[in-house]
Amino acid sequence: MFNLLKIVPFVCVISLNIFAEAGHFHPERITSIVLIIGLVLLSNLLVAVYYKITDYFTYAISGVSLLGIVTVFTLPSVGRIYLENIISGLYLGLFIAAFFPQLFKLKPFSYYISKNGYPKVISSSNQFLKINSIISSAWAALFLVALLLTNKNYSDDSGLQIVISTLVPITVLLAIGIPVTRFLPDKLMRIVSAERIIFSSLQEVFQAMPYGLNTELAKDINTIVQFELTGDEPGTAHVIIKNQLCTFIEGPHPDPVTTIKADSMLWLDISNNKMSGDKAYLNKMFEVEGDASILLVFNDLFAPKNEVDIAKFEPRKIEFNYKDFGPNKITKIVVFDGGPRTTKFSKTKFMVDNFIDGAKIAGAEVDYFKLKDLKIHHCTGCYTCWTKTPGECIFNDDMNLLRKKYREADLVVFASPLYIFNVTGLLKTFMDRLLPLLKPYMLLDKKNYTKHPDRFPEAGEQGFVVFSAAGFPDVDHNFDGLKSMFRLWDSHNENTYLMGEFFMPAAEMITQSVYIKRKNNIKRACRQAGGQIVKQGKIDKELMQIVSFPGVTRTKFQSQSNYFWETLDGKASYLKEVPVIY
Ligand SMILES: Cc1cc2nc3c(=O)[nH]c(=O)nc-3n(C[C@H](O)[C@H](O)[C@H](O)COP(=O)(O)O)c2cc1C
Repeated sequence: MFNLLKIVPFVCVISLNIFAEAGHFHPERITSIVLIIGLVLLSNLLVAVYYKITDYFTYAISGVSLLGIVTVFTLPSVGRIYLENIISGLYLGLFIAAFFPQLFKLKPFSYYISKNGYPKVISSSNQFLKINSIISSAWAALFLVALLLTNKNYSDDSGLQIVISTLVPITVLLAIGIPVTRFLPDKLMRIVSAERIIFSSLQEVFQAMPYGLNTELAKDINTIVQFELTGDEPGTAHVIIKNQLCTFIEGPHPDPVTTIKADSMLWLDISNNKMSGDKAYLNKMFEVEGDASILLVFNDLFAPKNEVDIAKFEPRKIEFNYKDFGPNKITKIVVFDGGPRTTKFSKTKFMVDNFIDGAKIAGAEVDYFKLKDLKIHHCTGCYTCWTKTPGECIFNDDMNLLRKKYREADLVVFASPLYIFNVTGLLKTFMDRLLPLLKPYMLLDKKNYTKHPDRFPEAGEQGFVVFSAAGFPDVDHNFDGLKSMFRLWDSHNENTYLMGEFFMPAAEMITQSVYIKRKNNIKRACRQAGGQIVKQGKIDKELMQIVSFPGVTRTKFQSQSNYFWETLDGKASYLKEVPVIY
């Protein structure tokens, strides 16, 4: 019925054109036909108004045609001009309908056609209206071109002229208009910035998701997220994100990658940005099963482009020339861990443990010392080890064994969390106590660096690597103090060479399940480094870069950290069990 209301004006105009041509455009010869067509048009228009048909197409064609028909009866000289230009009038009407409504804040010409097939929550969004304004302007331009083409002179033969002048514009309209309507909306969806939609129900959220997916960010995502909802809108549904498309399906999936169990009102608040997803996650306000890492990007995947806050991986620049010992030179490794944490909570130990695993698999023999469990007195600066008892310290503590292990190793691993921009006091105390391994005399090397000679040069060349985890998400500046100290250890020692630096920023984050991918990347990189140093005698810088990737923007880091500390503030201990105080 409604389609008929759109077709009738079109048929009327074409018929009128045929009769006008047959009557050689003399109004008086075809008055009764014009009257009948006018009445049909008018009735059609009234029915359309009665049924509130929201379609400019019907009104534009009917309006211009009725105006022309009125002139046929009231001003025959103008009526004749109209009869000679019926098709032009048609295009003029369409141009007016396509061009003007959006200027007067009315819904654009293409809106009522293109809204079909979209959920209301999308078709009523500002982005949808903007896109339709652009498409309607494109149509207005096409109608204008058609208007000009209709009036062009193609042939002296009047019959042929009518046929060509009718066919050419229609062909142009179809040839350009159909692809424009077909492909432009999709292109525009990516370009035209969307504003955040305020959803009134979770159903709207899910309906909108397929249209709101940021295809750029979704490039490498292939996942199924299931929602098990309770509260006002209970039920189970899942979202499949694959091939840069998002599909929403009611009901459970047999094998979801992630399952979110939440109160529907809470998820609605998160979707409307009324509640921070990070805060809700860290406060355990909803449950996550399976791979939680999708939560890190979930908001960004569906957020307006200007709100997207994704960390881009720019590998840290490492200019240092690390020592290359060549294959199979490193067989004995000793690790000195200056971190006070013993549990799984030490991120420094996490790196070191994986490095050790890789080295052991490659055939190395590894000794590991947790300095906090050993008796190590601090250096008193008496220089007795350089004077009265050369090579021997006044303190008879665990350093005797540690110095021996240090001397015997082909590779030393220094491990320490970043404490006040450097190593912990534990590691520094240990390093100070290595002084007996040097002689007090001064050497000047080729680069004019002052050094002390090795007391036991027969031990030969020795490599060392550094592992450090930090709280802040920055590597530059943050690690500068620690990095400088170890680089000086390289340049101001006779036979000791830096072979690798592993700095993990934003380290506390990796215990959260959303960062599982980053954690696994670090794990792999450290293991591989352990294997490489034994087999190849050197470590790829790329592995150090992987460890240094913070996996989070500074702003996200800030909000996530603050929500995290808020969960503990005055309520619980970080280590769950507070260490015993002596
Ligand atoms: C006393 C102290 C000082 C710290 N100083 C820094 C610092 O200067 N820069 C930083 O990024 N993090 C700093 N942190 C945070 C730790 O480096 C961070 O918690 C790290 O993950 C600890 O490593 P671990 O898990 O191996 O113990 C400090 C922590 C403590 C307890």
